[in-house]
Amino acid sequence: MQYSQKVLDHFMKPHNVGKLKNPDGQATEGSPACGDQVSIDIIVNEKTHIIEEIKFQSYGCASNIATGSIITEMAKGKTIEEAKNIGWKEAAEELDGLPPVKMHCSVLAVDTLRNAIKDYELKHGLAEADKFSKEMIVEELKKVIYPQVGEDIVSLKMVKYVGFENGVAIIDVDIPSFDTYRDNVAEEIEEHLEKFPEIKEVKITM
Ligand code: FES
Repeated sequence: MQYSQKVLDHFMKPHNVGKLKNPDGQATEGSPACGDQVSIDIIVNEKTHIIEEIKFQSYGCASNIATGSIITEMAKGKTIEEAKNIGWKEAAEELDGLPPVKMHCSVLAVDTLRNAIKDYELKHGLAEADKFSKEMIVEELKKVIYPQVGEDIVSLKMVKYVGFENGVAIIDVDIPSFDTYRDNVAEEIEEHLEKFPEIKEVKITM
């Protein structure tokens, strides 16, 4: 697999590794695509809302370690609002790119950071727990990467329809029967949607 020098550098010598004592925000997330995990701890200045300290622990692949390292570097010194706007494409770009099949590692890092910030916001009364809606399903589908090209299935216009009724999520995906990644994409959609207790069943039509 072709990795950039920057990915290799961050993999060999990751920055900000470890845990923080009494973090203000914390999140541990697993990638539905591969089962790997990242956890992020943050210390936030209560007045300025600047992320003053940040550490991560990785339980996964080289890209997982490299993206954990880069995302913590990118978020350090930023306000929580600024850090929330860091996207997975920017994180991958900051590493001078990732192989398409490894783009989900970048999604995982960004997701974990956003959830650590959310944890801080919830604990400090800055946000309320999200109310479930169909839009949340669409947002979650933006984290499902089509591995052949390293782009999400929503941007690729593969998602033709999203519905939610009586606890059943209905997703219509346009992906040909001969596509090697077909089952992989279906599995990933299911795993991404598993985290919503409101969804009792996922129906995928292809
Ligand atoms: Fe699992 Fe990279 S995070 S393959």
